[in-house]
Amino acid sequence: MTTAATATGHTLEVRRVIRETHDAVSLEFDLPRGEAGFRYQPGQFLTLRIPGGEGAVSRCYSLSSAPALDRYPQITVKRTVDGLASNWLCDNAVPGLKLESLRPAGVFVPKQWDAPFVLIAAGSGITPVMSILKTALTEHRNRVQLVYANRDSDSVIFAAELAELQRKFAKRLSVQHWLESDKGRPTPESLRAELTVPKNSRAYLCGPAPFMAVAESALSAAGVSRDRIHKEVFVSLSSDAFDTPIASVEPVGSDVATVTAEVDGDEHVVSWPRQTPLLDVLLREGIDAPYVCREGSCGGCAFTLVSGEVRMLANDTLDKYDLDKGVRLACQSLPVTDTVRAVFDQ
Ligand SMILES: Cc1cc2nc3c(=O)[nH]c(=O)nc-3n(C[C@H](O)[C@H](O)[C@H](O)COP(=O)(O)OP(=O)(O)OC[C@H]3O[C@@H](n4cnc5c(N)ncnc54)[C@H](O)[C@@H]3O)c2cc1C
Ligand code: FES
Repeated sequence: MTTAATATGHTLEVRRVIRETHDAVSLEFDLPRGEAGFRYQPGQFLTLRIPGGEGAVSRCYSLSSAPALDRYPQITVKRTVDGLASNWLCDNAVPGLKLESLRPAGVFVPKQWDAPFVLIAAGSGITPVMSILKTALTEHRNRVQLVYANRDSDSVIFAAELAELQRKFAKRLSVQHWLESDKGRPTPESLRAELTVPKNSRAYLCGPAPFMAVAESALSAAGVSRDRIHKEVFVSLSSDAFDTPIASVEPVGSDVATVTAEVDGDEHVVSWPRQTPLLDVLLREGIDAPYVCREGSCGGCAFTLVSGEVRMLANDTLDKYDLDKGVRLACQSLPVTDTVRAVFDQ
């Protein structure tokens, strides 16, 4: 047995290390598909505890495998200059290495698969996009356009796999590589010229923030509305996601609301002091609510607001589409109404 479920996640064992490029590796984990408790959706990420010279750090890595297609879950890590975890993994990951992981999390997951997809990625941003792309092609029937930006041809992760997919799904998939060595950095105008955007397309973007700003402008110019553009932001966690103290949940006076929270199918009715984020209230009650960063930046604590109203202190991850669908962040939510119903259904 190579995995062990803990209260918050699993211990995963590396079964294969694939050198994708000179500065990127994929790690395949020894975990049979669908093993109880380890299920993920295309576009989600793992949070791993990475050992290192100066002590362990927590880092998020998107799954580049597709859950319905790939036998083993896989992440793909690209070196960040002077970065602690990415360089440690690229230098030290070998078959047999065990890593602690939180449950798969994140909201960069297509909810509807019938629209044409425009996927725009740069560098390591290909990882969640690859999972979405493979799922669309093999499980659904929509058309997919991928624009993938890299410094040069040696930096292109999954080059052979993408070429093979393009050959196999020639009628539904188009792949355009944007190499900075040939074309320079993309601008909204130059990127717009690359895009063929059928009506009702949905766009999924992942890459450095300035690149995504350019891609968003190009998509807007091509007529894609904001609520059809979905983004995944890669940042390093500043806290230890495996050891997070819970803030005091003592109510100020009698100022409490009531939350009915459904977590993993179980319903809990809990008093909710109005100054305390929902996540802290649930954790203090011993309820196994999901979370990662607790900073409003990863989407790992997302829930669906079924009734009542909350206000969020911060939100660096949910887009307009998510908000319109009632998705909120438990780590940032305070109650507005006296009663709230929340469903954790990721
Ligand atoms: C949801 C999500 C999914 C992700 N998926 C992937 C993925 O699939 N693949 C992938 O490769 N990455 C992914 N990331 C990014 C990943 O989590 C890490 O942020 C990345 O690997 C860099 O981590 P690091 O420890 O190597 O670098 P860090 O040590 O965090 O350093 C990052 C940068 O900050 C600089 N820096 C560090 N400390 C300081 C300081 N005190 N002052 C100034 N500068 C400093 C470093 O020099 C470096 O340039 C994802 C992130 C998120 C949130
Ligand atoms: S735990 Fe990351 S946004 Fe709430």
